[in-house]
Amino acid sequence: MSDLEAEKALAAARAVDEVQNGMVVGLGTGSTANYAVRYLADRIANGLRITAVATSRMTEVLARKLAIPLTSMEGLSSIDLTIDGADEIDQRLQAIKGGGGALLRERVIAAASARVIAVVDSSKFVTRLGRFPLPVEAFPFATKFVGARLADLGGPVTLRMKDGHPFLTDQGNHILDVSLGSIADSQQTALAISDIPGVAEHGLFLSEIDTVVLAHGGMVELRHAERF
Ligand code: A5P
Repeated sequence: MSDLEAEKALAAARAVDEVQNGMVVGLGTGSTANYAVRYLADRIANGLRITAVATSRMTEVLARKLAIPLTSMEGLSSIDLTIDGADEIDQRLQAIKGGGGALLRERVIAAASARVIAVVDSSKFVTRLGRFPLPVEAFPFATKFVGARLADLGGPVTLRMKDGHPFLTDQGNHILDVSLGSIADSQQTALAISDIPGVAEHGLFLSEIDTVVLAHGGMVELRHAERF
């Protein structure tokens, strides 16, 4: 296992310690969140009683395979705790998400959660967001128009592809990845993108994350958001 893989596993294991009996738990998407799903399955096998809701079909498939009791978000209005990955996160616990294309479900599940824990390896912690291209989910009808508006924000825009075709999210939408390089004002960028008609969701998660579990080397550190 590489150093970064070991960090992902370490962060995920620490976050899963926060899960308690009776909770409804949101399951994130991506390789780090997958470690959390596996650790959670181990705890369930040892007697933990929870119900889970997945942020993507991919995570749902994994959770089902590991016999984690699942429920659908359609029947839920609140979640106790969600453990999810991030593509970048800064010291204010503002993050870029959506590298795996699950941003819309991740946003809804994060917003419904009493507590959101992000699990990251040391490569994800940045002083300023933006090196990772910002994913924007667009309704296919509006992709070209949204792409042109996003280009006005100042970075090259790429339509995410898979097997020679536009990548489709679990909602059947497209993803436009915007290479902003460095985001000076994340609030203003988020507002500007939300204002574009045809945008279904964007990957700037500015207030959803309550705690980050950051692994570096063999150490794990918890940082909590300061809410004013
Ligand atoms: C999924 O859409 C993203 O928000 C993920 O949380 C993100 O891509 C992290 O994935 P890794 O843990 O594989 O880096």
